[in-house]
Amino acid sequence: MSQRIAKDGKSIVMDELKWDADYLNSFNRIYIVACGTAYHAGLVGKFYIEKLARTVVEVDVASEFRYREPIVDENTLFIAVSQSGETSDTLAAMKESKRLGAKTLALTNVVGSSIAREADQVLYTWAGPEIAVASTKAYTTQIVLFFMLALYMAEIKGTQKPERVAELIGMLKEIPGGISNTLSDVEPIKTFAKQYGFNEDVFYIGRSLDYDVALEGSLKLKEISYIHAEAYAAGELKHGTLALIVEGVPVIALATQKSVYEKTLSNIKEVKARDAVVIGIAAEGDEELEKYVDHVIRIPETDELLIPILAVVPLQLLAYYAAITRGCDVDKPRNLAKSVTVE
Ligand code: AGP
Repeated sequence: MSQRIAKDGKSIVMDELKWDADYLNSFNRIYIVACGTAYHAGLVGKFYIEKLARTVVEVDVASEFRYREPIVDENTLFIAVSQSGETSDTLAAMKESKRLGAKTLALTNVVGSSIAREADQVLYTWAGPEIAVASTKAYTTQIVLFFMLALYMAEIKGTQKPERVAELIGMLKEIPGGISNTLSDVEPIKTFAKQYGFNEDVFYIGRSLDYDVALEGSLKLKEISYIHAEAYAAGELKHGTLALIVEGVPVIALATQKSVYEKTLSNIKEVKARDAVVIGIAAEGDEELEKYVDHVIRIPETDELLIPILAVVPLQLLAYYAAITRGCDVDKPRNLAKSVTVE
């Protein structure tokens, strides 16, 4: 990210984008389209662009988008997100949008990949080679890139004050240190993984950005440990899923978003009342959550917008250690491939 931060640390530089400000300002609709983990990064991207740049964004999985006659024209910006740049459905969705007149932007990790070549403009995630099938650092860099793109758009559109942009950039620069902190104490996560590694079902809940991260955490657990996992918007539980919460069922509850904290807490109380075993993910300094859950994993404090970059780390580690506990091949999960080049 350092190459995309101005020397004075106060604004974002995106020299790779060849569109001028007026043009970038003229889109009235943005679609973010991707698959799997990249789709989950897209959900966070939507939140960032809407919150910071105040532009409406729709996110879709590529295999759905391409067959639903999407409303696309020359005022549409189509953003494809793909680590490999070779995912067949994402590439096809991009080609279709281009045919309908959209401008296309690729967020990808692989230089010269098919999606990078097909797109009008490319922003590389610069994650370095990602070999394991499960996407981890690619996801993190996709979110970072979305955050920077949203800030860049916000500067152009004037939707955020320069001081706020500078403040967020300052916090972004602290994030690598925060990740190192989270990685420095993995023992509790290992213990939970051993404790719950043989459960049949695990639930992830959260609201707002926590829900987006919950989706990614549950995908990671399924993918590499073969444990059935589901993520729910915490407020949706009572619309059906609560029926599955019984004594001893593990629930990973993310409660990092201050704006919805109280609401999340009341959902956590609902699952606790059914005797679920709750592992809470909370920011440092949160004294409240530990009163209502069985264990707490703490992540460093930062602006709530940036928390997904930190909050996903313990979830990735939990999946990793659960997989190890169960004797699974973490790098090469069954039935999956790193690049999905078939429909
Ligand atoms: C992630 O852990 C998965 N392996 C998978 O969901 C992946 O993110 C998806 O297939 C998209 O791949 P891409 O980013 O290369 O397009």
